[in-house]
Amino acid sequence: MCGIIGYTGQRRAIPLLLQALKRLEYRGYDSAGIAIVEKGTLQVFRKKGKIKELEQELEGKEWVTSFGIGHTRWATHGIPSDHNAHPHCDCQKTIALVHNGIIENYKSLKEMLLREGHVFSSDTDTEVIAHLLEGEGSPKERLLRTVSLLEGSFALCILFTEEEGVLYGVRKSSPLILGVGEGEYFLSSDIPAFLEYTRSAVLLDDGEVVRVDRSGFTVFDFQGQAKDKKPITIPWDPVSAEKGGFKHFMLKEIHEEPRVFEDTLAGRIDFHKQTVALEELENLPFSSVRRVTIVACGTACHAGMLGKIYLETLARLPVAVEYASEFRYQEPLLQDTLVIAISQSGETADTLRAVELAREQGARILSVCNVLGSSLTRISDWVLYTRAGLEISVASTKAFLGQVTVLLLLSLFLGEKRGVLAPERQESLLRELLSLPRKMNQILKEEQSIHEIARQYYRHQNFFYLGRGLLYPLALEGALKLKEISYAYAEGLSAGEMKHGPIALVGPDLVSIVLVGEGERRIKMLGNIEEIRARQGKIIAVASENDTEVKEKVDFFIPIPPTSEFLSPLLAIIPLQLFAYYMALERGCDIDQPRNLAKSVTVE
Ligand code: F6R
Repeated sequence: MCGIIGYTGQRRAIPLLLQALKRLEYRGYDSAGIAIVEKGTLQVFRKKGKIKELEQELEGKEWVTSFGIGHTRWATHGIPSDHNAHPHCDCQKTIALVHNGIIENYKSLKEMLLREGHVFSSDTDTEVIAHLLEGEGSPKERLLRTVSLLEGSFALCILFTEEEGVLYGVRKSSPLILGVGEGEYFLSSDIPAFLEYTRSAVLLDDGEVVRVDRSGFTVFDFQGQAKDKKPITIPWDPVSAEKGGFKHFMLKEIHEEPRVFEDTLAGRIDFHKQTVALEELENLPFSSVRRVTIVACGTACHAGMLGKIYLETLARLPVAVEYASEFRYQEPLLQDTLVIAISQSGETADTLRAVELAREQGARILSVCNVLGSSLTRISDWVLYTRAGLEISVASTKAFLGQVTVLLLLSLFLGEKRGVLAPERQESLLRELLSLPRKMNQILKEEQSIHEIARQYYRHQNFFYLGRGLLYPLALEGALKLKEISYAYAEGLSAGEMKHGPIALVGPDLVSIVLVGEGERRIKMLGNIEEIRARQGKIIAVASENDTEVKEKVDFFIPIPPTSEFLSPLLAIIPLQLFAYYMALERGCDIDQPRNLAKSVTVE
């Protein structure tokens, strides 16, 4: 999605803005631009394509200004092109602004502005804002007047040539954060853009405007009433925004999974009492929760599907899992229901709208989120953080692992509070949890054998991922990972459904990744393996390292250290992520920024 950066301070703005835009690249974009004010004159540069195109455009320019704004655009209104890229300006070129979100009433505003004689130079919804900002009054007055006319979602960063060194930021349903340095300030949609300069930040709320110059900032609401806002300290360290010797952020983030798992558990297990202690949920009314509805999108929804099985089995609560984009248009019955919203970014538009709907229906909201102070956490009654740290690669990996870990902890916690979880089961799961980081590292050490399998199959175009029980959501997640970064077609299936239709596709060209669990389901998976073999389909199995029977029947075998069935998804996910990664590598794909995708999907 689009990314915003604004800077006022003492450093040279152009290199700083370009560097910040590179930090925002991971969000996905199709064009980029910057605007600066040099000796009172506005200079704007916009380029379709990657930031390096913009860099080339700026080569040799000796401007020294320390004041400007920049943007990475992900097209919504108007094709990706130089003229649709942000920043956008007014007719006189005295105002420049960048925008994330969508102005829903831009058509009627544009008609009005055209009638008044304004001339437009782009097809975007954003440009209407620049023209609305023209006219009488101080920049602040014009801004408040303009904001009152806008419908939709918008994070804005604006500069006026008449107020050099002053930036304005506006936030409504799209994130905007003020980074607070020593005599310098950053306005951005995303913390990584300024993390190398400061870890002190003011999280703006919806309906707030900030005016910032080199000496300080003031925050006010859309009516102009001042608000008292204090900076917080961001817990991420700048090093986490670097690749740390790995070729891609995705690989680095997969390798961080054992640490993410440990961090997510830290302080949440009382080993003395052998219980889960979630301080964050102290005032959750356990006895009045009769049902749970989980809302999320994409990978987070797959974590939710695992959460359903955990909550139903360990806490004996009925659970529905809904794609947020579907749920938000339904008329849900939410009496006595706890709604759990899962989101890495905490900014996914569909998830936020689903939560708003749930709130309107009187539900209480527990969010599972990775980003401190994100929009989701601010509209939730309780938050359980995943502690995955900054996730930069568009394909979510370590955040998924964090989400599943949190949902497992929550299920153990609720199971005990509700008196439905046998202490022996709880104790044995908690004991086994401690061995998982070692087992995760064991899998990571074998990554070259997974690379080898990818080398064998990277030219294939069609893949099935088959699983049952807890391994069914994992099959969905494995398939999603493969398609989003390698562009191979992949379908995740409940293995029992194969014979009800998909088996028609099985043949020598199809590769099936079968996820084999334990017990009764294992026998059924052996049946699936035989069905595929009989049709000359290729098979890669992910199964317990002790499962020699499976090993003998398949083309490639990825061993998983033995663990409890409940915990197996936390191990089996790693080879699936690695396989997708190495497939994409062999296919020469842009792994951290796959085509058409964005890190946080802030449009509906
Ligand atoms: C896939 C992926 C997406 C996200 C989805 C929700 O790798 O990253 O499917 O999981 O867009 O995003 P969040 O978790 O930020 O709400």
